[in-house]
Amino acid sequence: MPSHELPAGGFGAPLPDSPLPGVPSLGATLPGTAELVALLAPRLPAGPALPPAAAAGGPLYVLDGAGPPRPGAAVPPVPAATVAHPPFDAHLYRRDFPILGETVNGRPLIWLDNAATTQKPQAVIDRLAHFYAHENSNIHRAAHEMAARATDAYEAARDKVRRFLNAASPDEIVFVRGATEAINLVAKSWGPKNLREGDEIVVTWLEHHANIVPWQQLAALTGARLRVVPVDDRGQVLLEEYERLLNPRTRLVAFTQVSNALGTVTPAKAMVEMARRHGAHVLVDGAQAVSHMRVDVQDLGADWYALSGHKMFGPTGIGVLYGRKAVLDAMPPWQGGGNMIRDVTFEKTEYHGAPARFEAGTGNIADAVGLGAAVDYLDRVGMENVARHEHALLEHGTRLLREIGGLRLIGTAAEKAGVLSFVLDGMAPEEVGKALNREGIAVRSGHHCAQPILRRFGLEATVRPSLAFYNTFEDVDALAAALRRIRSGAPPPGLTTFPR
Ligand SMILES: Cc1ncc(COP(=O)(O)O)c(C=O)c1O
Repeated sequence: MPSHELPAGGFGAPLPDSPLPGVPSLGATLPGTAELVALLAPRLPAGPALPPAAAAGGPLYVLDGAGPPRPGAAVPPVPAATVAHPPFDAHLYRRDFPILGETVNGRPLIWLDNAATTQKPQAVIDRLAHFYAHENSNIHRAAHEMAARATDAYEAARDKVRRFLNAASPDEIVFVRGATEAINLVAKSWGPKNLREGDEIVVTWLEHHANIVPWQQLAALTGARLRVVPVDDRGQVLLEEYERLLNPRTRLVAFTQVSNALGTVTPAKAMVEMARRHGAHVLVDGAQAVSHMRVDVQDLGADWYALSGHKMFGPTGIGVLYGRKAVLDAMPPWQGGGNMIRDVTFEKTEYHGAPARFEAGTGNIADAVGLGAAVDYLDRVGMENVARHEHALLEHGTRLLREIGGLRLIGTAAEKAGVLSFVLDGMAPEEVGKALNREGIAVRSGHHCAQPILRRFGLEATVRPSLAFYNTFEDVDALAAALRRIRSGAPPPGLTTFPR
């Protein structure tokens, strides 16, 4: 079967035709949320409900056996059921993701490049098609029916994201292109107005380039100084050093909740509190967190939170900047144009409040709606179930990779999510990535746009398998088996020589 074809029977219902079977006529009225949810719900039964993570006494991303916890770090007991294979059937959910049925080099695709981007469930794909088939229009202007449908769909997506993050108001949700644009928005809008020469911006050594470069640019513009919180040899933020760096000149702290290169989960809430005690504003980069754990921005207490839709099973080209309403409203617009104005004369312009003031021009309407569908989908799977399953996968993978001779895990924090970075003795990461691809296994090899943290470990690149809730124990077993084979120099199973 050519790799671009769906398997016999396809993956659920065909893409919607107009009108969709079972959907009431959209002629006079807009579909309600309940109708859309029913229409777009995955065609498979939801997985077994599991008790919330909170019942386990704390976060589920604390790795058993990953080493001694940091002094003072709370390490909740992990129930035995999560150490063995838990009752979460990832195989059921996989069927919602058409691309996971692809073959690569004659083998079933094993997608372990989730930190780069996640795959999309049929519910998201269908929602995009439905938007273009039934709702497409520009938004917020025009008195016609299609404008009303498109505006409703777009604003409904904003409210879904608000609910997902537990923001206080949809006005705190700004649609942007992704986490990179969210961070740049803050740097370019809030930064010049609030920073002066001698002020300090604090980031950690773990940051993705997206959470370094905009602050460097801002420092160059304003004369502020960029200061960096070091990490220990396991990739954990040194909180005492962080505390030492904070002072009355600290105007901004920006750090990641989960490291994309190492998987370290930072003690985000404590770090926000510490920054606040020193009067600093705080941005948390949630790009790698939102697909792995429940996020509550009110509980976290940061001023801003950045995320990318494509890393949480939504479309590319759409992301979110959460900002506290008062903070957003005090920030000047960073781009000017349509949509963001209340009134324009040649003498002056009055701007809307947030979020419209930051959404100049025609935005990515359809993909925002698609992100809303991804959020609905994740709600159905349950973030506690996601966290529990991935925790078990990560423990299993860590154990298996540790048994492989010549393999060095990079990033062994007590609290990790989603990532198993490593290097293999005598083999360049790119070579390992290519060898895994020959077996249908997709991992990232390279610097992961986080050069400073890799250099902290004396490396320019690692191999980085990264997990999502649709990964199975079989995926992780296949990765470990392939790595053992690669180490031994044997060709992939079924072959006597290496394919060119
Ligand atoms: C931690 C982190 N922050 C920010 C980004 C940037 O995300 P995007 O490229 O979607 O804007 C990434 C992407 O990998 C990331 O991992």
